[in-house]
Parts: sequence; C-alpha cells; structure tokens
Amino acid sequence: MRFDATGKVEFDQIYTQPDPRAYFSSLRGLEYQIPQLAKPHFTALIEDYRAARGIDIPTVLDIGSSYGINAALLRCDLTMDDLYDRYCGIGERDRAELLTSDQELVRERGKAIPARFVGLDISEPALSYATEAGFLDDGVRADLERSDPTPGQLRQLADIDLVISTGSLGYVGASTLSRVVAASGAPWMAHFVLRMFPFDEIEASLGALGYETVRLDEVFRQRRFISPEEQSRVLDTLSGVGVDPSGLETDGWFYAQLYLSKRPIHTTPR
Ligand SMILES: C[S@@+](CC[C@H](N)C(=O)[O-])C[C@H]1O[C@@H](n2cnc3c(N)ncnc32)[C@H](O)[C@@H]1O
Repeated sequence: MRFDATGKVEFDQIYTQPDPRAYFSSLRGLEYQIPQLAKPHFTALIEDYRAARGIDIPTVLDIGSSYGINAALLRCDLTMDDLYDRYCGIGERDRAELLTSDQELVRERGKAIPARFVGLDISEPALSYATEAGFLDDGVRADLERSDPTPGQLRQLADIDLVISTGSLGYVGASTLSRVVAASGAPWMAHFVLRMFPFDEIEASLGALGYETVRLDEVFRQRRFISPEEQSRVLDTLSGVGVDPSGLETDGWFYAQLYLSKRPIHTTPR
C-alpha cells in the first residue's frame, strides 16, 4: 500500500481504468459517500442559480469528474448505492455491455435535473466512459494546475455557469479554479474539501477575482480510513495544519467541508 505526502493511500490506478468497476469495487468497502452527501447541496445550488440568473439549463463543470459520478447522481437521480450495485460484483460483463446499459439508463432517467454537465479530469479513460455513457455532455481532458487551457478547451469552458467538486480539491487547487474563472466568467462554486486540505490559498485567489467564500459549519463523512496506518498519517497531517480531529477523524472517517464561492452581482460582468 502506498501513501501520498498527505498520508492518504494512493488510489491512482482506479482512476484510469476503461470503465468504473475497479473504482466502485475499491471504494465500496470504505463506504465512500461524499458524492451522495453532496447531491442535495448541488441540486439546491443549481436551482438557486436558475432562479437568480433566469437560465433554464445551466452548464455545470465537475472538477475531477472521474467516471461522471456527480453527473450520474444528479441527472439520473441515483444514489451511490445504486452505482455500487451497478458496477460491483457483476462478473464478466465487458466495457461495451456496461456502456450500453448506462446509455439506456441515461435515456430513461437522464432528465432528472435541468442542467448540462461538463467534466474536467486528467484521466482520458474516465472522461471517455462518462461522455460515451451520456453522464457527461462534454469532457475536458486537461491539467489546469500545470498549463493554460488550449483554444479548444477555452471554448469548452466558455459557457460554464457553476463549478462543483467532490474529492478533487487537494489534487486540484487555485491554479485550476483561476483558469476556469478566466475562461468562463463568474461561475458559482461548491466544493467539498477534506479538512486536511487548507482552503486559504484557493479562497485568496478567488477573492482576488472578486469572489466571496462561505464555509458551512456542517461536516460530511467522505470515507473510512483504509487502515490504522492511514489514519495515523492523516491525524499527523491534520495536526500540522492546526485542525483538531477529536470526535471526527479520530473515530475512523475522513471528513470534508463545503465551501461555497460566488462573485457578488455588482462585480459580475455576465
Ligand atoms: C478522488 S477522485 C474524485 C472523483 C469524483 N469526483 C468522486 O467524488 O468520486 C479525484 C479525481 O481527480 C482527478 N485529478 C487528479 N488531478 C487532476 C488535475 N490536475 N486536474 C483534473 N483532475 C485531476 C483524478 O483523475 C480523479 O478522477
């Protein structure tokens, strides 16, 4: 088992498989659940945006979208348990069969929320699966931590109204968000971020672009620690960033918090 610099186990290989089976099979046992807990908050934000801006079908960018998980939950009104049942322990079915069945699912249930979904990820296989299935309307394969968007990517990002993420900030930070804002205007944002990742730098860089950020007091379970070793490493990281883990991470779970960022209307050019 390999750990990254923050003490988390590295799951990199499950993000780049041709289909989502390894992703869900690896995370089910750890009760990975942040997309499920995020869903009502994203739904409310999309509804608020539609009402405030009078846009019938806003475009939502999911940062670190992977296999289109947030989009699948929202557009098909599914639960994480539905997705675990769909992709775990299903034996010999191949990618093509899974895709056919997911395309059918999107045809039947894919209009649960009036929104377009665009994914941003560095994983080509995950984005391909999500767009071919129809969970995502479009996929931007880019690492905006390292480089500016290409002209084609700028066009893909131009109409973004909202930016959401679960489990991705930490891998992705201020550079990506600033580049998305530069490409798209003043999208509203909702990010679920592990408590071990300080949000200060992102808040400051969004602040320089005119954004105000609010952190909800509520905390959200992300997943269980995979082992006592992972927990102990993460407790060290939390103490290094001045976060008290008592009664939360000490009890065996990673916890995230929700950050909402908006640019007040008077500074908004759109
Ligand atoms: C922990 S997964 C979260 C996936 C999904 N949002 C969820 O909650 O299940 C993190 C995702 O971020 C992606 N990622 C890592 N670095 C990235 C970067 N620099 N830009 C965009 N995506 C990145 C990975 O490929 C992976 O799909």
